Amino acid sequence: MDFIRMKICLSVLLFLNVWFCTAFDVSTIPFNKGFSHLFGDANILHATDDNSLQLHLNQNTGSGFKSSDLYNHGLFSAKIKLPSDYTAGIVVAFYMTNQDVFKKTHDELDFEFLGNIKGKAWRFQTNMYGNGSTHRGREERYTLWFDPSKEFHRYTILWTNKNIIFYIDDVPIREIVRNDTMGGDYPSKPMGLYATIWDASDWATSGGKYKTNYKYAPFIAEFTDLVLNGCAMDPLEQVVNPNNCDEKDVELQKAVFSRITPRQRMAMKRFRAKYMYYSYCYDSLRYSVPPTECEIDPVEQRRFKETGRLKFNKHHGHGHRHPKIRSTSQVLDARISENEDED
Ligand SMILES: *[C@@H]1O[C@H](CO)[C@@H](O)[C@H](O)[C@H]1NC(C)=O
Ligand SMILES: *[C@@H]1O[C@H](CO)[C@@H](O)[C@H](O)[C@H]1NC(C)=O
Repeated sequence: MDFIRMKICLSVLLFLNVWFCTAFDVSTIPFNKGFSHLFGDANILHATDDNSLQLHLNQNTGSGFKSSDLYNHGLFSAKIKLPSDYTAGIVVAFYMTNQDVFKKTHDELDFEFLGNIKGKAWRFQTNMYGNGSTHRGREERYTLWFDPSKEFHRYTILWTNKNIIFYIDDVPIREIVRNDTMGGDYPSKPMGLYATIWDASDWATSGGKYKTNYKYAPFIAEFTDLVLNGCAMDPLEQVVNPNNCDEKDVELQKAVFSRITPRQRMAMKRFRAKYMYYSYCYDSLRYSVPPTECEIDPVEQRRFKETGRLKFNKHHGHGHRHPKIRSTSQVLDARISENEDED
């Protein structure tokens, strides 16, 4: 067990009260074995061993890379270290999509990291689109139990024909179980893996209040130990033979990472209770009836407003009146609210 791994295990123990650090056993590939540049060539810096690279954002451009193939299901993963200090207005995205091939009916699965002003933590969101359902966003937003700019952490998207799991290190943070009533909203066409850094000053930080400040450029996101473990295919071939990936699908479903153990489920529950500050499932202004895959937990629901955001508001918090009896969860709530977007 290396030092970083030890620290990750320890941070999982401290913040989620669960000790588990079973290795996420997947083989990694060098960049040139599965990836190509997407944009901003001059801002993509490769390590000599080709296992790591940096994506830079400066005044001229952001940058990005993508997998050379599309995949019909699989496990997609990278260790990522985000830019530090002043990162307002910046988005680092790590995601699956097929928008280049299916313009109007694309599928997508996202990790999107949202920069913040100096001294404030990175936040991130996960999202899903299926068959062009861009008017039905399924965003969840969270803070993290560690500083993602200090060291590498593994971010993973598992996509099978039965479920989707977003992992951070070994902690599953979100699972979407396929439900027939979701229809085309469940991603079902081959997708590629993408990673980008770009200037999203319009919306990334407090709804666009804080812009990217190029005094702090270049902003650098580092990627290493990339994983592409899926059924690579030509998207047009799928129409001819949809069964080409059956074997891989069986293998994926049998894999350890496709099933959430009771212990992991506990960690997921704790993560979501402490760090999720927005869920589309509780946003009744947007969805008067939650989409069918939402599992509404009445206890959890009471913590959210009809906007899908946490109820606790730091400016009117109860902590000021009774500072001595603030519970740990109130302290955590306060921290999450501080990071909440302002509309
Ligand atoms: C996806 O959308 C297209 C175009 O709207 C539609 O023809 C097709 O039936 C949809 N597929 C699924 C699986 O819902
Ligand atoms: C699908 O969603 C519906 C509506 O929420 C639910 O009643 C049903 O049990 C779900 N089916 C599966 C297989 O999860």
